[in-house]
Amino acid sequence: MRLRKIRRTNHTNNGWKVIRRCVIFFTAICLVPVFLVFMVATDHYYARPRIPLNHPIGSELIQLDQHHRSRNNVSMFVLKRLEQRRTHLRKTCHLLGLDKIGNDTLHTPNSWEYLVDEKHHLIWCNVFKAASTSWMYNFNILAGYSPTFLRRSRTPPLTLARKKYGRPSLEFLRKAFRNKKSLSFLIVRHPLERLLSAYRDKIKYAVSGSYHFKLGKEIIKNYRKIRNAAPKYPTYPEFVAWLIDSVKAGKSLDMHWTPVVEFCTPCMFDIKVIAHTETLEEDQELIIKRAGLENIIKPQWQNAGKGSTTKQISSHYSLLTRSQILQLYHIFRFLNIDFHLLKITAPDYRFDFELFNYSLNGYLEVGQPDQDPSALLAAITMQDNQPDSVPHIY
Ligand SMILES: *[C@@H]1O[C@H](CO)[C@@H](O)[C@H](O)[C@H]1NC(C)=O
Ligand SMILES: *[C@@H]1O[C@H](CO)[C@@H](O)[C@H](O)[C@H]1NC(C)=O
Ligand SMILES: *[C@@H]1O[C@H](CO)[C@@H](O)[C@H](O)[C@H]1NC(C)=O
Repeated sequence: MRLRKIRRTNHTNNGWKVIRRCVIFFTAICLVPVFLVFMVATDHYYARPRIPLNHPIGSELIQLDQHHRSRNNVSMFVLKRLEQRRTHLRKTCHLLGLDKIGNDTLHTPNSWEYLVDEKHHLIWCNVFKAASTSWMYNFNILAGYSPTFLRRSRTPPLTLARKKYGRPSLEFLRKAFRNKKSLSFLIVRHPLERLLSAYRDKIKYAVSGSYHFKLGKEIIKNYRKIRNAAPKYPTYPEFVAWLIDSVKAGKSLDMHWTPVVEFCTPCMFDIKVIAHTETLEEDQELIIKRAGLENIIKPQWQNAGKGSTTKQISSHYSLLTRSQILQLYHIFRFLNIDFHLLKITAPDYRFDFELFNYSLNGYLEVGQPDQDPSALLAAITMQDNQPDSVPHIY
């Protein structure tokens, strides 16, 4: 109405038409992504996207099993589950465009973190805080170190392992993957459980004087209101606040909590076995048997029992607000964007959730309701910290 009145009084008919069209056009442009984001976001927090598993079950892994049936008595159930995970990973990689080679770290195959044991035909990407200690031990045993030596040695196990298994070049790694005899595997863990485990191991119980110990002091200095208050280490909320801010500031992530999607680029390789820490006993039994290493490696998983893990999760995540938990889920998107170099780095826990079929179930519920509802809303609609970047919807 108002527009029309003005139009009548003024004689700049065309000018107003153009402005009105612009307003409608831009409103539409702004609203569409917001709607899409809401639809996608609200759906994602609680439920995994259902990707149909029309991949035939009788595939490579199972055929391999039938071949070795007499030697390897592994339950069909475990094999089917592993096959489903592998299919899920491949489909999700494709869905998210993570299987395409590109300019950024997410789309560049990273061979650096893999260990290749040519003699035993094993390929493993060493994800920290996901049974990495016991498998580093296993690889050192396979490399020929004796258990006694490993117990006594003061050299870090990773350094010992790297003496025998050098950092593979991409070419070398690809060749190992192509070898039919190779058994490639990855052990993953719930991203927020892994983050908590890294916090406890590296920050809370940091070795006095170490890099992480100093980092802890730095976090307290910047994130604690009363500096001399207990405890001596950063609390989980302090650590998380620091982590979110440091990522926002474009700092790269510590290898102990960097997302698997960037550390191992699992979409760039055809990894056969995706073991989960929740089912590690069964999964690694299969790995050991399939590789014929029963006589060399004794399966072990010295993590604390499941019950205590659940308790740790609720006792730590109940200290965070729900919006903080959502920020952890989203935070690593659209950061470090440098348009001048056309180099986009977006390490993202959310990808780890999607690729390995994890959800926020059990985390959001224990978080504290936000005092300010707009904080939660902001976290839900959080697309990026850079208003100029293009919204990314999948
Ligand atoms: C396979 O192992 C299960 C127990 O793990 C046992 O009950 C079953 O008899 C075994 N089957 C064969 C064919 O060895
Ligand atoms: C994903 O997780 C859900 C719930 O834990 C489970 O029911 C489903 O089978 C899983 N899908 C795959 C492909 O592993
Ligand atoms: C990679 O970078 C070049 C310029 O360096 C750019 O033209 C190209 O579009 C980029 N490719 C992708 C997939 O981002």
